Amino acid sequence: METKAFELKENLYWVGGLDPDLRIFDIVMTTEFGTSYNAYLLKGKKAIVLIETIKNKDKFLKKFVARVKSALKENEKITHIILNHTEPDHSGQLLELVQNKDIVDPKAKIYGTDQAIKYLTQIHNKPLNFIEAKDQEELDIGGYTLKFYRAPFLHWPDTMFTYCPELKTVFTCDFLGSHYSHDEITFDTLEGKKLENYWSSFWNYYVPIFGPYKPYVLKGLKTLKTLDVEMICVSHGPVLNGDFSKQLENYQVWSQEEALKDKIIVACVSAYGFTYEMAKQIVKGIESKGVEVQLYDMVDTPKDKVLQEFGNAKGLILGTPTIVGEALPQIWDLALALNKVVHGNKRFCGCFGSYGWSGEGVQNIDQRFEQTKVLLPLEPLPINFRASEEDLIKCFKYGVNFAKAILKEEIDDDFKRKEKTDQVMGKKKRKKIRVPRDGRVRKWKCIVCGEIVLSVQCPEICNACGAGEEAFVLLGIVDNNIVMNTYSGSISIIGGGATAISAAKAIRERNKTCKITIFTMEKHWPYYRPIITKYFSDQTITEKSNFYLINKEWALENKVDIHFETQVVEIDKEKKVIKYSNIKDKETNEISYDKLIFATGAGNFCPFRDVKKINIMGIRDLDNVTQITDYIKTNKVKKATVIGGGLLGMEAAEGLIDLGLEVEIIEFAQRVMPRQLDSQGSSILQKLLESHGITIKTGCLAHELIQNEQGLTTGYKIKGSEQIHKTELIVFAIGVRSRVDLARQIGLEINRGIKVNDKMETSVQGIFAAGDCAEYDFQYQNWVSAIEQGKIAGLNAIEEKNSTYIRKSLPYSLNVFDTTVFSVGSIVEDKEIQTLSHTNNGSNYIKAFFKDEKIVGGIVIGKLETGLELKDAIEDALSIKQVVSIIF
Ligand code: FEO
Repeated sequence: METKAFELKENLYWVGGLDPDLRIFDIVMTTEFGTSYNAYLLKGKKAIVLIETIKNKDKFLKKFVARVKSALKENEKITHIILNHTEPDHSGQLLELVQNKDIVDPKAKIYGTDQAIKYLTQIHNKPLNFIEAKDQEELDIGGYTLKFYRAPFLHWPDTMFTYCPELKTVFTCDFLGSHYSHDEITFDTLEGKKLENYWSSFWNYYVPIFGPYKPYVLKGLKTLKTLDVEMICVSHGPVLNGDFSKQLENYQVWSQEEALKDKIIVACVSAYGFTYEMAKQIVKGIESKGVEVQLYDMVDTPKDKVLQEFGNAKGLILGTPTIVGEALPQIWDLALALNKVVHGNKRFCGCFGSYGWSGEGVQNIDQRFEQTKVLLPLEPLPINFRASEEDLIKCFKYGVNFAKAILKEEIDDDFKRKEKTDQVMGKKKRKKIRVPRDGRVRKWKCIVCGEIVLSVQCPEICNACGAGEEAFVLLGIVDNNIVMNTYSGSISIIGGGATAISAAKAIRERNKTCKITIFTMEKHWPYYRPIITKYFSDQTITEKSNFYLINKEWALENKVDIHFETQVVEIDKEKKVIKYSNIKDKETNEISYDKLIFATGAGNFCPFRDVKKINIMGIRDLDNVTQITDYIKTNKVKKATVIGGGLLGMEAAEGLIDLGLEVEIIEFAQRVMPRQLDSQGSSILQKLLESHGITIKTGCLAHELIQNEQGLTTGYKIKGSEQIHKTELIVFAIGVRSRVDLARQIGLEINRGIKVNDKMETSVQGIFAAGDCAEYDFQYQNWVSAIEQGKIAGLNAIEEKNSTYIRKSLPYSLNVFDTTVFSVGSIVEDKEIQTLSHTNNGSNYIKAFFKDEKIVGGIVIGKLETGLELKDAIEDALSIKQVVSIIF
């Protein structure tokens, strides 16, 4: 093929490299028909863009440069490089390319996702002119727009698609590619035998590259369906033009997950027949529980056959003898075919085998299982030499118990996998907890904020406060045998936030019979409000299941009736009847209740009255952040002003910076986060924020807005000054007010919130209030206490009379720009308090507060681990000397 660019469309060229003789790709893939490394050049009026580079092999470079040159006019140079994916077969020539002044502008910008930039930095070990391509961000190159769509795990975490609407063309990198070298470049020129070979390579390419990421493939297809596409520029194989519906259909069909069956594959090898004898007994044990089982001797069974059978089976048991301290290769082959993404936390695995003088074979396979995070309900079963009668019974029981695990029955204590803990975190007693991978749900508690999470393994992050896994402690296995409460009335909950869900969950944990109805004005499933500002930098957050507190399945299973977008308009507390109205169609209905829980939450109070609020927005719920994001994108906002320098203000400012805005914070107090930090801490935090480009104005009150004729706010004045400060958007993160209008209408006793006692009872019998709308002991709630109060309200509603709320002092933790800001206990300085502080480079900061020689409070700006150590120290009432030796 000649070394000229291949014109695909006007101003769009293929400039890649063909490698027809390649027979092995990436060491592991056979490529019968060679491959290609496709790169594309798109010439806009304002920019010339190269999409992908090629493999780092000298044999391609010359031709690649020649092809690019042939498409460039004199003095034209590449100004932008987009890398949809960074594997070196696409990014390998990047360094050579940016140094080639003949074809690349030395100031060329290189676009990739944040992950891509991280990888590229490490692949090339050189600082280059990287710019993060954010999801759905657009690049105007003059006559053409390029829009980025994140597409993680297709097939690396760094992947994205780039779409050009004017050309109806999408660049998908590996996605929908094939290892097929084709001189004529486009798919529509393939016919006969060539077409047949292409289809075989298309399948062979999908299996190892995208087979492990099927759910992500379906997401990728979903993204493509939203675009108007007539050409798909893949990075290997023919460019897809003409009719490529079959490629899309195939990916759709191949990526459907088959439902897993109660089926177990037992695969083993046996040197003298001893391991095989064990296998037969295990199989009998499984059969005795009525579970389907297939036994394979791997000496004469191809690995692929077993893996195919395992495709829809829940369980895999591997048996191997130990020879020269190791498991046998046939069994390793199967163990290595497991991986975390496909099998982790879904498939049950186990291993057994006979050994002579040592039993490392079984242990090594077991360790491999641990790495893949498959479910491991039982301890491995190594038997010395030949199994005795007694051993064979043990093997039978192993099979029985493995089948029990699949059937979710209780496993016998003798076979249960033992719990282990690793002393790995911190200097003192933080432990990373490993539990048996037995699929059983456990209760975990975040000790930073008290959030309770139910999951099989330790959660990696607390959605309520952002703390990492080191902050979780294990409370135990969820007890399904507690004595159930039998209250059978009807409970209505007004509100759809965390407090309401906490009440509903607490009720259902103890009571399966009462009726629960929730009324929420929101259209979304209840979500973790503390992480809503993450939406600014990641608009896919709402697609992630762990963003939500519950889902449809939970509501159905627990018979909780949720009325979305519904407003309670009237309550007759004598007749115990609620009148409610759908926000959209205004249809009104009534429902009677026996117990009523107010969980109406709180809203932001807008400090600006009698002004148009087109670009003045609060930040309290998900719709607020989506509205802010949409406004910024639609109006190409460049500058925002955040009113409020507290926790929410900090999070909002970080999110807006992530969106690429110039951001300022206006705080009325003399310093930021005055309730959680001392003055030195505030000053260090302020410097951190300023180093990320945020302007902070403390001791200021924005009191007069400047608006244009359309009602858009264009600036503001600070009290005491006539100077006009320009802005394009005001986000207020202050002035939380309990929502009490409805409670007031029915005469509940109200101060700033609905007054409640320690059972969350209001002034009217049978009516409870909890969370942000409630006022207990004259204080407002934070997220954690709101959840606890929801639980107490729920339990008292079902007449669990011993349930009372106990106020706890919990730490404040905020993560901004990868730095933890942590404050715990009493941080008030007076003459009875001694303090000890330490700073490192002026950015990390630790301060401990002591009373009567014992630690009572602490502040950390730096690592969460240090904060947790301070918290532990306070709980243990450590002395100054002890704190110094452990923490400072
Ligand atoms: Fe073709 Fe994932 O690189």
